[in-house]
Amino acid sequence: MHLTIFGSGYVGLVTGACMAEMGNHVVCVDIDEDKIKRLNAGEVPIYEPGLSDYIARNREAGRLEFTTDVAKGVNHGLFQFIAVGTPPDEDGSADLSHVLAVARSIGEHMDDYRIVVDKSTVPVGTADKVKETIQAALQERGVKHECDVVSNPEFLKEGAAIDDFMKPDRIIIGTDNPRTTELLRALYEPFNRNHDRLISMDIRSAELTKYAANAMLATKISFMNELANIAEQFGADIENVRIGIGSDPRIGYHFIYPGAGYGGSCFPKDVRALAKAAADSGYEATLMEAVEAVNDRQKQRLFGKISSYFDGDLNGKTIALWGLSFKPKTDDMREASSRVLMEALWAAGASVRAYDPKAMDATRGLYPDAKGLVLCDSAHDALKGADALAIVTEWQEFRSPDFDAIKQELSAAVIFDGRNLYDPDALKALGLSYYAIGRSNEMTDVTQPHDRRKTDKVSSASFD
Ligand SMILES: NC(=O)c1ccc[n+]([C@@H]2O[C@H](COP(=O)([O-])OP(=O)(O)OC[C@H]3O[C@@H](n4cnc5c(N)ncnc54)[C@H](O)[C@@H]3O)[C@@H](O)[C@H]2O)c1
Repeated sequence: MHLTIFGSGYVGLVTGACMAEMGNHVVCVDIDEDKIKRLNAGEVPIYEPGLSDYIARNREAGRLEFTTDVAKGVNHGLFQFIAVGTPPDEDGSADLSHVLAVARSIGEHMDDYRIVVDKSTVPVGTADKVKETIQAALQERGVKHECDVVSNPEFLKEGAAIDDFMKPDRIIIGTDNPRTTELLRALYEPFNRNHDRLISMDIRSAELTKYAANAMLATKISFMNELANIAEQFGADIENVRIGIGSDPRIGYHFIYPGAGYGGSCFPKDVRALAKAAADSGYEATLMEAVEAVNDRQKQRLFGKISSYFDGDLNGKTIALWGLSFKPKTDDMREASSRVLMEALWAAGASVRAYDPKAMDATRGLYPDAKGLVLCDSAHDALKGADALAIVTEWQEFRSPDFDAIKQELSAAVIFDGRNLYDPDALKALGLSYYAIGRSNEMTDVTQPHDRRKTDKVSSASFD
C-alpha cells in the first residue's frame, strides 16, 4: 500500500520504518529541512533501538523515502498519517497548529480520495477540526474530493518503540465510516496476525483513549511517589510496600515504581492537556491536577535531599549526575527530571558533571552555554572531583557500578538515587551513604533536621 507520513520524529519515523518493513511504500514528509537532509544522507536524528537498521534496510529496498515536498507526499499515499508534534501551549492545552497545518496542506494538494489518519495525540474533537480545515482548503480551490478522518492514536514507548509497533497491544481505530475500518484493518493486518488486536470505536472515544492511557500511567507513578514520601515520614521502606501491594492481582507489579518523577514528551503534556480540555468544557479534573502537582514536587525531591545533606549550602559543590534522558534507552530530554535537578543545582551555586549513554548531544543542544555543566565521557569520569553522586535515569550500566571507585572519587561518599537502584544494606556495608526515594527514614528534604545526617556521616551509612 502507499502511505504518507507527516512528521519524522519519534512516532513518524517508527511508523514509517515499520510500515515499510511490511512491504508498504512510505513517503515521510517533514518541514525540518535539516532533518530530511540528514535522513537522506543515511543519518537517523534520534536514538531509538533498532530504528537505524529498519530505516537503512527499507531505504535501500526503495520502500522508504524522506522529503520536504508536501505536494509529493499528498499525492503519494491513500493513507495520510499525521504524526507531528502537539506540544503544550502556554495554558497547558495541546497546540494543534502543526496538526492543522498538515490538514491544510492535504486540502491544498489532494486530487483524489484520501484517508487522513491522526496518530498525533490530540484533544477530543480534533478530527472534526482536521476535516473542516481540509474541506475549507478544498473549497478555496473550488474542487470536491472525498476524505475520511480517522483517529489512530499511537501507544509506542520510546526505547522499545519498534517492538511496540511491530507487536502492538492494541490498534485503536476511531472512525465514523466502516469502510475506513476495513481499509485500516488491511493495512494493519501484518501487525495483527497472532490474535485480533484491532479495536474499532467512534472517533471521540479513540481520541480520549490515548489521554486516558497516559493519564492512568501518570497517576500510577504519582500515586507511588506520594506513597514513597509518606513512607519516608514514617520510616517505612517503599520498596517493601511496592512488593506488598503488587502481589494483589488487582494492583499488579507494573508501573508502580517510585522515583524522581515522570518526564518525556507525553505524560506531562498529556495530563496537563486533559485537565485543561476538561476545564474548558466546564469540568474540573481534580485528580489530573493532583497527579501533575505531585509530579512537579517529586522532580524537586532529589535536589531537596542533596541540599539538606549539605546543610543548604551547595555553593561551589560539584555533583556527579548519572542519567540525563527522561528514561533509559532514549535520548529524549523533553521534560526530563535531570533538567529540573541540574537547573536547581546551578541556581544554588553548584556545578554538575554529567554522563548519559545516549543523551549527551541532546543535553549539549539544550544547554550550550551552561557554565556549571561538564559533559563527561563515562560514568566514572563524571565522578572525578565531585562531592556527591546523583542518579536520575536507570540506564542498565548504572545498576551494578564499581562502588569502591565511587567512594574513592567522591569527597563525600554519598549517593542520591532517584530510581532506587541499589540495596541500602549493601551500600551501608561498603561505607557509602545512600539516599533513595521512600527508603530512608534517616533524612528527608523538608522534615528531617541535619543532625541526623551528621550522625549518619560519622557512621558513613544512612540506614542505621
Ligand atoms: N514520542 C512518543 O513516545 C509518543 C508516543 C505516542 C504518541 N506520541 C504523540 O505523537 C505526536 C508526535 O510525537 P513525536 O514525539 O514523534 O514528536 P517529534 O517532536 O519527535 O516529531 C514531530 C515532527 O513533526 C515535524 N513537523 C511539524 N510540523 C510539520 C508539518 N506541518 N509537516 C510535516 N512535519 C511537521 C517536526 O519537524 C518534527 O520532526 C505527538 O502528538 C505525541 O504526543 C508520541
